[in-house]
Amino acid sequence: MKRIGILTGGGDAPGLNAVIRAAVKTAINEYKCEVFGIRNGYDGFLEPDGIVPLNAESVRGILPRGGTILGSVNRGNPYERKIIRDGQEVIIDVSDEVVKGVHRLELDALLVLGGDGTLSSAHEFSKKGVPVIGVPKTIDNDIGGTEITFGFDTALNIATEALDRLHTTAESHHRVMVIELMGRDAGFITLNAGVSGGADVILIPEIPFSFESIMKKIRARHEHGRSFSLIAVSEGAKSRDGMQVFSRSGDEMYVARLGGIGQIVAEYIDKHGFESRVTVLGHVQRGGTPTAFDRWLATRYGAAAVRLAARGGFDRMVALQRGEITDIPIAEAIKVPKRVNVNGDAVITARNIGISFGDE
Ligand code: F6P
Repeated sequence: MKRIGILTGGGDAPGLNAVIRAAVKTAINEYKCEVFGIRNGYDGFLEPDGIVPLNAESVRGILPRGGTILGSVNRGNPYERKIIRDGQEVIIDVSDEVVKGVHRLELDALLVLGGDGTLSSAHEFSKKGVPVIGVPKTIDNDIGGTEITFGFDTALNIATEALDRLHTTAESHHRVMVIELMGRDAGFITLNAGVSGGADVILIPEIPFSFESIMKKIRARHEHGRSFSLIAVSEGAKSRDGMQVFSRSGDEMYVARLGGIGQIVAEYIDKHGFESRVTVLGHVQRGGTPTAFDRWLATRYGAAAVRLAARGGFDRMVALQRGEITDIPIAEAIKVPKRVNVNGDAVITARNIGISFGDE
């Protein structure tokens, strides 16, 4: 193994730079490799300044930095790229250009740090002969075959701190505070932060809710002298009749963007007699310095990805299972997205301590 490339695709997640740093150091120290960074996901292979050499100097000081020094795009699927041709928007497949870029750079391995979309493209590139290695990244924690993705712990801590802060103001003003959290169709951030931050109601996509059930919980709290409540709502939460709220609809190019359910829940509560306010935490959950756990996990993933490449374990992804780093086929990781186990101990524990999921 003489030359490896690294790219970061999809939404950023705290810990990306820690993976890049660990991979570069391992590649240089252990394998005397040359390392190249590909800018802005797969797009870097198509752009004139899209490739940057990476060395010990380029990764100095980046361990605690959020974001990614390589840049990212989350509409960067090379199999469906939007371009303007003769004044018209058209979708074209530029994957062969990417493959040519990999050959031009004479890469012996391409480390792809991404979520389900970026990893699905990686798997397709593997079929075209590109020696890809996957590293699971997302704050949503929804990638199969791994206990946890880096970025999740940071998002969880930020969300929990926000709940703590809302708690005191909710109590002072006798209000219902609704907080809308990220996660797309997976409720991990909301469930874990909701439990850790003492939410009274947790609404996640995996457990459809009814508005009346939320009100039942708020009323019961009031009857027991609790004049405030905290509601953690996942952006992808669904009502029992299947309603999910989007801030922008999707098209053939863009996936629909979730957002707005918090406002709807808060308005309902307000209309039914309890003063309510909503906070949408948004991209704050993705920004800034990674937690120690995410730095630690990201560093282990980065080094392990290079070791996997050296063993020729292509079309595979590093994963955490039973606390140890292992590797699994990328196809397995993307086959079934991970979701909250509604019968698992986390949900049962939440119910045991009196949290409502809006389904009683
Ligand atoms: O997948 C990570 C994530 O932050 C989701 O939780 C959220 O729905 C989405 O990305 C937001 O995407 P964007 O950065 O395009 O607004």
